[in-house]
Amino acid sequence: MRHTSHLTKAPLALPLCTMTRKLVVAFFSVLSLVTGTASHVYHIPAAVGNDSSAALFTSAAADLDGAKIRPVNATAYDWWYFDVVSTDPDSLASVVVVFYTATPGGFPFLPPSDSVTVAQIFVSFPNGTTFNATANADDATVITDNNVSSGEWVGSGLSWNHTGFNYAVVVDAPDIGVQGTISFNPIAPAHYPCGPAEAGQNMQVGPGIGWSNAIPDAVSSIELTVGGTLLSFTGAGYHDKNWSNQPFTSNVGSWYWGHGRLGPYSFVWFDYLALDGTEFVSGYAAKYGTIISASCESGSISVRPTGKNAIFPPVLSTGNPSGYHITFNLEQAGTLEMDVSVLGILVDSAPYTRFVGNISGVIVPAGNSTPRNVLQGTALYEQFKLTN
Ligand SMILES: *[C@@H]1O[C@H](CO)[C@@H](O)[C@H](O)[C@H]1NC(C)=O
Ligand SMILES: *[C@@H]1O[C@H](CO)[C@@H](O)[C@H](O)[C@H]1NC(C)=O
Ligand SMILES: *[C@@H]1O[C@H](CO)[C@@H](O)[C@H](O)[C@H]1NC(C)=O
Ligand SMILES: *[C@@H]1O[C@H](CO)[C@@H](O)[C@H](O)[C@H]1NC(C)=O
Ligand SMILES: *[C@@H]1O[C@H](CO)[C@@H](O)[C@H](O)[C@H]1NC(C)=O
Ligand SMILES: *[C@@H]1O[C@H](CO)[C@@H](O)[C@H](O)[C@H]1NC(C)=O
Ligand SMILES: *[C@@H]1O[C@H](CO)[C@@H](O)[C@H](O)[C@H]1NC(C)=O
Ligand SMILES: *[C@@H]1O[C@H](CO)[C@@H](O)[C@H](O)[C@H]1NC(C)=O
Repeated sequence: MRHTSHLTKAPLALPLCTMTRKLVVAFFSVLSLVTGTASHVYHIPAAVGNDSSAALFTSAAADLDGAKIRPVNATAYDWWYFDVVSTDPDSLASVVVVFYTATPGGFPFLPPSDSVTVAQIFVSFPNGTTFNATANADDATVITDNNVSSGEWVGSGLSWNHTGFNYAVVVDAPDIGVQGTISFNPIAPAHYPCGPAEAGQNMQVGPGIGWSNAIPDAVSSIELTVGGTLLSFTGAGYHDKNWSNQPFTSNVGSWYWGHGRLGPYSFVWFDYLALDGTEFVSGYAAKYGTIISASCESGSISVRPTGKNAIFPPVLSTGNPSGYHITFNLEQAGTLEMDVSVLGILVDSAPYTRFVGNISGVIVPAGNSTPRNVLQGTALYEQFKLTN
């Protein structure tokens, strides 16, 4: 983030020299006020930042998907995360792409590297076979246009762009054997941990953990060639970003996160424990593309392990559970009771597991106990366990 400029049509800024850019910035900043549009260009060097990292934790009127840490020092992290899970419960297909500006000092699950700008891709085929690869970039550029963004991890072959609200992750990385496109057509509005995308919101899902969710749910299609094998599927797509100017492990004891689609509902869950055992939650549900609940209030959502290893809170030595039971308070719409069960494991280590799963759920109407329809869907979800 050596240069941050305010431009209405950001791509213009790229070829300009610094001198010219300053003049253009002055001009377009005025124009921004007039048109109400906002665009920023963030250049993030691959070299680790040497100064203290400033973090943005209160939302502005734009830039929901912009960079939030400046500079990215050796104990900070800021990344853009994309995933898609197949909506066919008989398929274990998924893809996860993460564009990091982080080092292992900020996020210890990164492979050892002295580059801040790293992209990772994880894939699972319909039969559950997994693949992953990491690519270092020479540097990174993120350009925002109001609340949406484009990004290029220069030299890695991985980038994303947007057309209106639709996003596409483009992979052209023969070095790691992956080529193709992942598209996201959003069907649920963006939000922050405690509510909809509004200016002045607290963007911390818990102390020192920034989170904005540009795409809680999208109709996604994947056309990738992975090591010579075609991976083609449609599913529920998701995109968020996480950041902090403090190491991840300084603020997290354990956590459960996931997203999925169940009939007309799109939802995202978070339930985690800080190191001192304090529980923080964030629940989001949209129905037919309208937010029906977005809250970080205690009790708005609860996620607990079920089946084998159903130990709460989990510690490093706790095995993976069979699933989770999620109780989601939808306010006037009642309560959503969901059971998520593991269909496949995408990443598995002692501190971190990522799953694809099967969800079945019922809406229990407020003050009503009449029989409800059981809804079925799929989810992609994760858990961290960081304490002994
Ligand atoms: C931080 O300092 C090191 C050593 O002087 C230097 O190589 C690196 O480029 C610096 N980082 C940035 C982002 O300037
Ligand atoms: C990075 O910045 C944060 C916030 O200012 C500071 O607390 C931390 O010590 C810095 N890390 C390094 C390695 O300098
Ligand atoms: C998903 O869960 C439902 C209900 O628990 C079950 O009927 C269905 O067979 C499951 N599908 C798979 C692929 O496990
Ligand atoms: C699973 O699918 C992958 C990709 O199509 C294929 O390479 C692999 O051989 C399959 N594994 C099994 C056990 O069928
Ligand atoms: C943007 O994404 C589309 C895929 O939807 C791709 O065809 C196009 O080349 C991308 N544009 C850039 C500039 O990368
Ligand atoms: C962008 O998000 C902000 C909240 O951070 C919100 O106030 C604003 O209305 C959004 N802008 C657009 C164009 O959606
Ligand atoms: C953090 O990032 C991961 C992806 O690495 C994502 O699954 C999760 O939703 C994010 N959560 C927060 C609180 O930042
Ligand atoms: C990535 O794949 C390698 C095998 O190529 C495997 O050893 C490693 O555990 C995988 N990493 C993750 C995070 O799943």
